[in-house]
Amino acid sequence: MTLIVKTDPFNPDESVISKAVEILRNGGLVAFPTETVYGLGASISRKDAIKKIFSVKGRPMDNPLIVHVDSIDMFLNLTLNPPEYLINALEKLWPGPFTIVYWKSSSVPGEASANLPKAAYRSPSHRVALKLINYLGEAIVAPSANKSGKPSPTTAQHVYSDLGGSIDMIIDAGETLYGIESTIIDFTSVPPRLLRPGALAVEKISEILGIEIEIPLEARGFGEFGEALAPGMKYKHYAPEAELVVVESGDYSDLNKLINMVKKLISDARSKYRSVAVICSSETCSSYLDTNIKIIEIGSRKDIFQIAKNIFKTLRRLDEEKIEFAIVEGFEEKGLGLAVMNRLRKASGGRIVHID
Ligand code: TXA
Ligand code: MG
Repeated sequence: MTLIVKTDPFNPDESVISKAVEILRNGGLVAFPTETVYGLGASISRKDAIKKIFSVKGRPMDNPLIVHVDSIDMFLNLTLNPPEYLINALEKLWPGPFTIVYWKSSSVPGEASANLPKAAYRSPSHRVALKLINYLGEAIVAPSANKSGKPSPTTAQHVYSDLGGSIDMIIDAGETLYGIESTIIDFTSVPPRLLRPGALAVEKISEILGIEIEIPLEARGFGEFGEALAPGMKYKHYAPEAELVVVESGDYSDLNKLINMVKKLISDARSKYRSVAVICSSETCSSYLDTNIKIIEIGSRKDIFQIAKNIFKTLRRLDEEKIEFAIVEGFEEKGLGLAVMNRLRKASGGRIVHID
C-alpha cells in the first residue's frame, strides 16, 4: 500500500512531514518532491531501507545514491576534510540543483555509495525536501523516484505509475520546478569534472565560482569511452519504449536542413512502424503538419528552460500514446541545452543522426 498525500510546495503541512518522518525512521521509503525531480528517500541510518531502494527501482547495486542534506553543517559530518574553496562553493550554490562528489566519511554507509570511497551530496532548495531532512534530523539518501532506466519523475503521478504499491508514501506537491536533475561535479578531480549536466548550467557554476570545469565527452551523453565516470552513466537511461532518434545539427540558426532531415526520417519510418511521432520546437512543428504522424511540441528554442522542464514528461508521453518510433530535434548545447542533449542522446541509446 502506498499512501499518497498532497501538500502545498511552498508551505508544507506539518502533519504530512511528521508522517513521512515516522515512516523514514521505521525503515520505510518515501517519495518526495525536490526542485529538480521527485526523489525516493530512505533515512541514512537505515541500511535496510537503503537496500530496498535498489530492489524497488530495479537499480544495479553498483550505482550509488545521492546523500541529501539540509545544510553545510550536516554535510561536514558526512565527508572528509573538504578544502576551504569547496565550502565556499557550497555557500554560494546550496541549497539548489548542484550536487558534488567528494570523499565520504564512515558515516555514509557503503550501501549508499556503492562501497566507493566518494559520495554524492546535495542540499535541495524545495521546502518539502528541506523540511523533511530537517525534521528527520539526518540525511536522506535518495535517487530519482523512477524505475531504473525510465525517465525521471516530475510529478507524483509519474512516481505512482513506476513505483505505486512498492513504496510506503508519496508526497505530492505538484510538478517540479526544473523537471531535470541536478548538475553533478566531482571535486576530487583537478580541475573539477562535470559528471552529469543538469538544472544549473555549468557555465554559470564556472562563472559564480571563478573556476574551470572539465566537460568530458561522456557528460555530453555520448557513449562510453573507457571506464564510466559516474557509475550510473554506463546504464541505459531515460529510455521510452519507442525507438528514439535524435537529429542534431552543427548550426541551429538555419533550421531548414534540420527540418528536411526530420522529414526524410519520418517518411522512412512510416512504412516500417504503425505509430510514429516527432518531438519538435514551436519554431518547427508546423513544418510537419503534412506528414500525418503525431506532433509533440516540446517548447520554444528561445526558452531552453521550458524545454528542459518538458523533456521527461514528453518522453513519458511517448509511452502513454504507445508510439513505436519517434524522431526528436536536437538543441544547441549551451546553458541548459547541455543537459537537454545529454538526456536526449541517452534516451535514444546512441541513435543519433548528425547533419552539418
Ligand atoms: O536532481 C537530482 O539529482 C535528483 C534529486 C532526487 O535530488 N536525484 C537524482 O539521483 O537524479 P539519481 O540517483 O537518479 O542520479 C544520481 C547520479 C547517478 O548517475 C550516480 O551514478 C551518480 O549520481 N553518483 C552518485 N554517487 C556517486 C559517486 N560517488 N561518484 C560518482 N557518481 C556518483
Ligand atoms: Mg535517476
